[in-house]
Amino acid sequence: MKHFLMCAPQFFEVCYIINPWMEGNQGRVDKARARRQWQNLYRIVSGMASVSLIEPVAGLPDMVFTANAGLARNKEVIVSSFRHAERQPEAKHFERFFASQGYQVRRLRKETIFEGAGDALFDSRGRLWFGSGIRSEPSALGEIVAALAVEAHALELLDPHWYHLDTAFCPLPGGQAIGYKKAFSGKSVEMLDEAFGENIVWVSDADARDFVCNAISIGQSIILHKASVELKLALKQRGFEVIEADVSEFLKAGGACKCLTLEI
Ligand code: ARG
Repeated sequence: MKHFLMCAPQFFEVCYIINPWMEGNQGRVDKARARRQWQNLYRIVSGMASVSLIEPVAGLPDMVFTANAGLARNKEVIVSSFRHAERQPEAKHFERFFASQGYQVRRLRKETIFEGAGDALFDSRGRLWFGSGIRSEPSALGEIVAALAVEAHALELLDPHWYHLDTAFCPLPGGQAIGYKKAFSGKSVEMLDEAFGENIVWVSDADARDFVCNAISIGQSIILHKASVELKLALKQRGFEVIEADVSEFLKAGGACKCLTLEI
């Protein structure tokens, strides 16, 4: 059974701008609706996996996006070191949580920016896909590979709208994946095509903007904000069931379903 970390949106709001989705949304979060949307996502995920919760902290509105807490595997975690001053104080709270749960905590070198599972995703074959160019630094990858001894591939993100790898790419079971081409450099698209071939579904602009790639994959289920009829059909034909969980209030901060969880 998969195990996830989530953080309730008690202090969630948009009060600074560190990605293009946040622009124009300062002070615009409907907090009651955000709480309902998060509860619904929590209900769905905890019905299919176990979920641990970390205590939210006042003044850290983006802490709900636990995907950025670190990269965890086998009771070992590489904790994040955030690019923006606004999120940097989250790191010590996440680190304290992991230590209290008995994880072996690893840190990258102090200067190395790394935003956790937002930019580092394992596929079903155990390969690690790493995204850099906007948030995490390319140099983080060498350190991660040294720490975890995994086969890893570096992808280059180009567009600030797709600032974390998990906004534009989602590995699925059975060697499958979904991705959004325009987020990546030509070379990275080639790498993904080569690695996944027919097994990667490239999504439309509209689906990408609905954050379909920011999906939680549990068994044959894919939990996402919302997807087009065409994409749902394509995924159904590949053996997947799409579960939609409206997280529109969190889209105002540039995050969706997957960002609100961290597989631990
Ligand atoms: N406002 C947050 C930020 O810009 C959203 C983070 C979304 N997380 C993710 N894994 N894509 O950092």
